[in-house]
Amino acid sequence: MPDAPKKLFIKTYGCQMNVYDSERMAEALGGNGYEQVGTPEEADMILLNTCHIREKAAEKVYSELGRYKGLKAANPDLKIGVAGCVAQAEGAEILRRQPLVDLVVGPQSYHRLPEMEAKLRDGGTALDTDFPEELKFDHLPGARKATRGPTAFLTVQEGCDKFCAFCVVPYTRGAEVSRPVSRVIAEAEALVAQGVREITLLGQNVNAYHGPDGSGTWGLARLIRRLAEISGLDRIRFTTSHPRDMDDDLIAAHGDCEKLMPYLHLPVQSGSDRILKRMNRGHTAEAYIRLVERIRAVRPDILMSGDFIVGFPEETEADFQATMDLVAEVGYGQCYSFKYSARPGTPAAERPLVDPAEANDRLHRLQALLARQQQQAQDAMVGKEVGVLFEKPGRLPGQMVGKSDHLHAVHVTCDAAPGVLARVKITESGPNSLGGMLV
Ligand code: SAH
Ligand code: SF4
Ligand code: F3S
Repeated sequence: MPDAPKKLFIKTYGCQMNVYDSERMAEALGGNGYEQVGTPEEADMILLNTCHIREKAAEKVYSELGRYKGLKAANPDLKIGVAGCVAQAEGAEILRRQPLVDLVVGPQSYHRLPEMEAKLRDGGTALDTDFPEELKFDHLPGARKATRGPTAFLTVQEGCDKFCAFCVVPYTRGAEVSRPVSRVIAEAEALVAQGVREITLLGQNVNAYHGPDGSGTWGLARLIRRLAEISGLDRIRFTTSHPRDMDDDLIAAHGDCEKLMPYLHLPVQSGSDRILKRMNRGHTAEAYIRLVERIRAVRPDILMSGDFIVGFPEETEADFQATMDLVAEVGYGQCYSFKYSARPGTPAAERPLVDPAEANDRLHRLQALLARQQQQAQDAMVGKEVGVLFEKPGRLPGQMVGKSDHLHAVHVTCDAAPGVLARVKITESGPNSLGGMLV
């Protein structure tokens, strides 16, 4: 008789790339007889897929690990692993500091998880935080497990060579690499064959994509145009982009590629040239604004999204005002904003901090402006007709909810099945979602 499946619980933190990685890790461990479960209590293995972008990220992981002490005491065979960006940053220190942990694996080496897991069965620990020569994607199980809904993530690029002065990603994810064109196409086709209708291409700098194909390389726009030829695939998105890598072809694609959705996450971080320079962003506020104008010239209804950091070392009130001015000029539909926090090992961590009360005050002012813009962008959809890809039942009986072309959540009273893409007339705008009816 085959062994009963072992149970794997994965908790995912951080960005969408971690969400994608968690799915791949579950598939890799599937070959070792694991199936995924929803709670740590029933698990034979717990994996934390961690993020290192926020302050005290490592401390939070240690305190989360401490909570599993009782489970491990009750089940000495329980294995506990730490994956992701904190695993990369802390490495062997995790095994030293928290004896509950059996396994530490970095974001570029998790294709080796099956061997590592096998090693644990002999009672040892396993550590791998290499940046291997081989691409993990080429060594993972080819077939993806059945996806849960009509939308899916697909990582096409990883790592970063930009070294913004505040950021840990180049250290935790390593150098920028792009997956080969043929692999991406094959994975997209497999997803569509399973019923996926919308794919979001992922990368820390996804628009720097330069995937090898035979002797040459393809940029992101060429890849998007090729994926758009897959019949049954209705929508393509990509995230996250860097302003410096927004080339002419990609701008043009926003105008002429119908399947490319009118939403662009293009972080600028600050509106002050002095601060942008100290951040090592490699662009000015003016260049960013001109770039947005060029994109809007080909796709006037595009919804702009971004990331901001306030209270970066040496940011003055005038620098902050420049950020507020940039926001007012661009007009965003959706943004993330953060108070700067020093990440050990990054260049900015050596510099004097802005007074925390001042930084908090700026963050509140910026967030108030961004919230107003977000509401305005949402309200402006009322009366318009948009595409909605239905994903699941809504809160009220008889209701379905899905995402609009512009990534707004839309509630519609109808019996459309998940995966149906319909035209919807927007009739109302609530605090966090739109309401509408089928056209
Ligand atoms: N690759 C993406 C960003 C990845 S990190 C890009 O270049 O845009 C996601 C966001 O976290 C960043 O855009 C930034 O706004 C924020 N962030 C990163 N490091 C930070 C830090 N030390 N303090 C505050 N916010 C930070
Ligand atoms: Fe971090 Fe900058 Fe690279 Fe984005 S571009 S991942 S913010 S270093
Ligand atoms: Fe976090 Fe690593 Fe993503 S630090 S944001 S999980 S790349």
